[in-house]
Amino acid sequence: MAGGVVLVSSSIVRPVRSSQSDRTKIHLTPFDLSLLQFDYPQRGLLFSKPDSDFHLISRLKDSLSLALEIYFPFAGRLVKTENLEDDTVSFFIDCDGSGARFLHAEATSVSVSDFLQPDGSVPDFMKYFFPADDFKSCDGVSVPLLAIQVTEMTDGVFISFCYNHMVADGVSMWSFFHTWSKICSSGSGFNHKPLVLKGWFLEGIDYPIHIPVSETERSPPSRELSSVPITKEWIFHFSKKNIIDLKAKANSEVASSDMEVSSLQVVSAHMWRSIIRHSGVSRERETHCKIVVDLRQRVNPPLEKDCFGNMVYLTSAITTVEELLDRGLGEAALQIRKLVSSQTNDTCKRLAEDWFRNVKNLKSGIGSKVGDTIVVASSPRFDVYNKDFGWGKPIAIRAGPSNSISGKLSLFQGINEGSIDIQATLWEDVIVKLLADVEFLEHVTTA
Ligand SMILES: *[C@@H]1O[C@H](CO)[C@@H](O)[C@H](O)[C@H]1NC(C)=O
Repeated sequence: MAGGVVLVSSSIVRPVRSSQSDRTKIHLTPFDLSLLQFDYPQRGLLFSKPDSDFHLISRLKDSLSLALEIYFPFAGRLVKTENLEDDTVSFFIDCDGSGARFLHAEATSVSVSDFLQPDGSVPDFMKYFFPADDFKSCDGVSVPLLAIQVTEMTDGVFISFCYNHMVADGVSMWSFFHTWSKICSSGSGFNHKPLVLKGWFLEGIDYPIHIPVSETERSPPSRELSSVPITKEWIFHFSKKNIIDLKAKANSEVASSDMEVSSLQVVSAHMWRSIIRHSGVSRERETHCKIVVDLRQRVNPPLEKDCFGNMVYLTSAITTVEELLDRGLGEAALQIRKLVSSQTNDTCKRLAEDWFRNVKNLKSGIGSKVGDTIVVASSPRFDVYNKDFGWGKPIAIRAGPSNSISGKLSLFQGINEGSIDIQATLWEDVIVKLLADVEFLEHVTTA
């Protein structure tokens, strides 16, 4: 490690009792497998420092072991099998109780105030506060599906994690994290209802799915492509008032439509237009706004609302740069709104079938690297500030550097009710221009 972060210990934490007798296999859907070349998402929560008699590390590890007993898929491994008859491979998750990685680190010269820069910038050293910054989903055959890093600072502690996105999505990850924090704060396990796995819900598609070997060869990490300019990260804050104003503006611009746009849609639209305005992409080119869709309640029959697994996929609102900029905020937000409401049972199932019939382009990962795309990841709907491990609630949330393309936005609940924080990964010159853009800053602050 570097950036003032020193590794103290690295260990594997296993579920308390892992029963090998009913070893579950999780079969992977097109929605899972399309993420084969995605980096493990990384998130972390900043806390003040507990008293030393809290026994932070041992309590976190003991409670993690209990939490992994409930959330056993995180303790499993990805298994790859070769299909010699057609030169393809298949994957499944073997819930074998192998365990999760637990890193304990120290950054004795870093304080909470170094972390939370008043100008909204994200310090470079932060990347060392996250575990495993180069794992891709397909690496899950040899590395854990979940890694945790606990970094003790002078006056704070950062608890971060990364996970294989084929095992879980944000909904499942945060519910695991919540359970872990509750076990840790209460000092014991509790009667958690058994995990409901998603099961196989794609009639007409046989598992395991066959994937051409060439699509599973590891693509280089996006950050190491030398042709791509350096990205920087910045925190943008939308207050409740900013969001109300933006919504009013958007809804008045498209008053003829009977659809109201949501906070999330209008904030995404504002970021999309503002970033693309400064992206240098020519006006006749296409631009994409990729959003995450949860299919649990969209498929018919619906899946259980909080069932465990990865039940999301990315879909794109597409327009030209010219149209995006000329038509205004309301149209952009409405386009996102319409995209979301068009994701029905048929759309989801057809998407899965098309993917299944023609597996390709896995290596492109999260998306275009030419600055014409924004990816709206994470969600302000995840309750992150109620995660209390026993000495108080988090102070801030951050995303790690994985899946970094210019245009990656991680949306989080803000600390004040009704507000939204965005951690944006952008080329440096785009950030400089955004920070000087009066129209953009009318509805955003950076601290
Ligand atoms: C859901 O979509 C699939 C695929 O288009 C279709 O076969 C199925 O009948 C749909 N289910 C319902 C209940 O509409």
